[in-house]
Amino acid sequence: MCKTKALLVVSFGTSFPETREKTIGAIEDDLAAAFPDRRFYRAWTSGVIRRKLKSATGETIDSVAEALARMAAGGMRDVLVQPTHMIAGEEYEKLCQELMQDKAMFSSVAVGTPLMAEEEDVAAVAKLLPALCPQVGREDMAVWMGHGSGALRMPVYEMLNEQLQNSGFDNHAVGTVEFAPGFEDVLRRVKKRRPHRVVLSPLMVVAGDHAVNDMAGDGPDSWKSRLRAEGVDVACVLKGLGEYAAVRALYTVRAGKARVL
Ligand code: CO
Repeated sequence: MCKTKALLVVSFGTSFPETREKTIGAIEDDLAAAFPDRRFYRAWTSGVIRRKLKSATGETIDSVAEALARMAAGGMRDVLVQPTHMIAGEEYEKLCQELMQDKAMFSSVAVGTPLMAEEEDVAAVAKLLPALCPQVGREDMAVWMGHGSGALRMPVYEMLNEQLQNSGFDNHAVGTVEFAPGFEDVLRRVKKRRPHRVVLSPLMVVAGDHAVNDMAGDGPDSWKSRLRAEGVDVACVLKGLGEYAAVRALYTVRAGKARVL
């Protein structure tokens, strides 16, 4: 019997091939393996990045609308959509709107949530983070750079900070590159704690442009440079969260609990 059930994995996208394979690619592989009865499809939401990839390598990746049309044309009837987004921000809202608009093309469309959409998700991630950086000792500090969003119904990053403090991981600090809490907030925490060393890691699925440049870049505005300018010893981990199997497993859990639209 030919398949009429599909799995669509939706990512923002990245123009950094190295991290793509280890993060977005690995999440796609894990999800495809978890749902073997579904035909696998991929979409990236960033038009800028899809165009960049196309001109750099010739590879074409579907937008969400294109992937939905492709699935319908391929005879897919039952669609499970799982985003690789971190938070239920603007990108996720847009995705849900688009699926609502086009759901009549299928008999069923279900969508899973991002990594941290509910309070219990944030708690699960706060519990996970310290285990992802065993090289950070008690005298050191782990600083996590998230992306951030201006449109969150839940203050995810503040909640992460709070959860980490409350569970005894007061040598962890979370900030975001685009929104609040920002670098100043992180710096305040670092100054208070006076660690031997700060280990900077992206709190993002991919270690792409923000991680390579805004976090670990040699320019004066990167978090690494700004911390060093304060006399802090800094090491950078250029590893997107998608590289960790424990994080990828959470996406499979989200997909298993997808809500039918
Ligand atoms: Co950005």
